[in-house]
Amino acid sequence: MIKKEIDNELEYIQKVKQINEGKNLHYHILTMGCQLNENDSEKICGMAEEMGYTKTQEIMDADLVIYNTCCVRENAEERLFGKLGEVKKLKEAKGTIIAIGGCMMQEKHIVEKIKKSYSYDVIFGTHTLQNFPKDLYHAILERKKITDILDIDGEIIEGLPIKREDSIRASVTIMNGCNNFCTYCIVPYVRGRERSRNPEDILNEVKSLAQEGYKEITLLGQNVNSYMRVEREKENTLDKGAINRIDSFAKLLRAVNEINGIEKIRFTSPHPKDFTDDVIEAIRDCEKVSKFIHLPMQSGSTNVLKAMNRVYTKEQYLELVEKMKKEIPDVTFSTDIIVGFPGETEEDFEDTLDVVRKVKFEQIFMFIYSRRVGTPADKMENQIPEEIKHKRFDRLKSLYEEILKKNNEQYIGKTENLLIEGYSKTNKDLLTARTDTNKVVVLEGESSLIGKVVPVKIVSEHMWYLKGEVEIN
Ligand code: 5AD
Ligand code: SF4
Repeated sequence: MIKKEIDNELEYIQKVKQINEGKNLHYHILTMGCQLNENDSEKICGMAEEMGYTKTQEIMDADLVIYNTCCVRENAEERLFGKLGEVKKLKEAKGTIIAIGGCMMQEKHIVEKIKKSYSYDVIFGTHTLQNFPKDLYHAILERKKITDILDIDGEIIEGLPIKREDSIRASVTIMNGCNNFCTYCIVPYVRGRERSRNPEDILNEVKSLAQEGYKEITLLGQNVNSYMRVEREKENTLDKGAINRIDSFAKLLRAVNEINGIEKIRFTSPHPKDFTDDVIEAIRDCEKVSKFIHLPMQSGSTNVLKAMNRVYTKEQYLELVEKMKKEIPDVTFSTDIIVGFPGETEEDFEDTLDVVRKVKFEQIFMFIYSRRVGTPADKMENQIPEEIKHKRFDRLKSLYEEILKKNNEQYIGKTENLLIEGYSKTNKDLLTARTDTNKVVVLEGESSLIGKVVPVKIVSEHMWYLKGEVEIN
């Protein structure tokens, strides 16, 4: 496994810090997209803070504005262009530095568009995150625009500074890239081929998080349950199988489960095809691993799944769910579903609804199919009209709400130990927590409960949240 030495790049952190000395500068960051991007942003924030910038929520106060972009669907792209239009005025007024990074910057046509029509100082990609201080240094000192994109896969970078958003929950990226090439998806083109971090580096990171007081770890990757597959296959061809090595996701889960201080382990996203028996057994056996599993389905129709290159059928997906229900007591599921994939017929869509009714997902992330330049599905001729896509989306949403209500009702009267996270966003007099299955719970209570795990009895359901009461023994 290649691990890049980044001392040269990190020297620029000190160089920018020297330039910024005594200036009381601020940065503002906007992160779009998935948890992997959020984790990258924590590293960008880590670098920015070490370069002498302080974070601000107010873009008007910022001397450096950073956009960490996503391109998985069109609406994220539109959002960036809207933001770039707004920030231009700020740049003209006070010379704000604009840095744009992330997945969208790996798309040539987007970078061309930005260069042609928008203001910016630094453009960096998913493979050049560690170059951000160097790029910024040159942009500031030489007053020139920097574009720093690598077309080839970046190496695994260790040792970047990190400023985490939360003090109890932390994300740990375990692999980069994806080899699956689902036909709708841009990710393999912007994040490159699958490559896994060394298990030792991952375990060291989790151990130090535990020492810092973190309780919950989410293992991240585009296809977490194929962790180390590429590396394992290479080792096999070299005929030096290291038996004791952590060379699979199942083994990694078991090793993380051993780390003292960590109380809950989650992971996202897995692929159904890689839910091998060893992974199912590890989830079953590891008491810290959450039994709320994200199992991206995308479609319930075998025909559509084939066109999506998902390599499983409707029946195989349902069999996997059944197998997991049998093996893992109290397992529950969340999923991703795309409606309106090219060629999706009414019958295909009914298959999706059928699986939703059967599995009774606790949470569904629903997406309208979005054409992505460069993907095979974008070239398919049988695109679905927008109106039909939206109608199907609404039908799926109604079914989801029905199921959600029924699932919610099963919580009423039950008590679960919940971590009190803080005040409710919508009502500052109430506290908020989340069930293991990611349902928001609001409750009355003293502020001293924040950060503590307390028994909470669920008393009522309100579709998108539950109401609870602290159970006093
Ligand atoms: N259109 C709509 N949804 C998409 N996703 C990925 N690519 C697209 C696309 N082109 C969804 C998938 C994936 C989730 C992260 O985003 O459901 O699991
Ligand atoms: Fe995209 Fe499919 Fe890879 Fe997920 S598994 S990142 S949907 S190509």
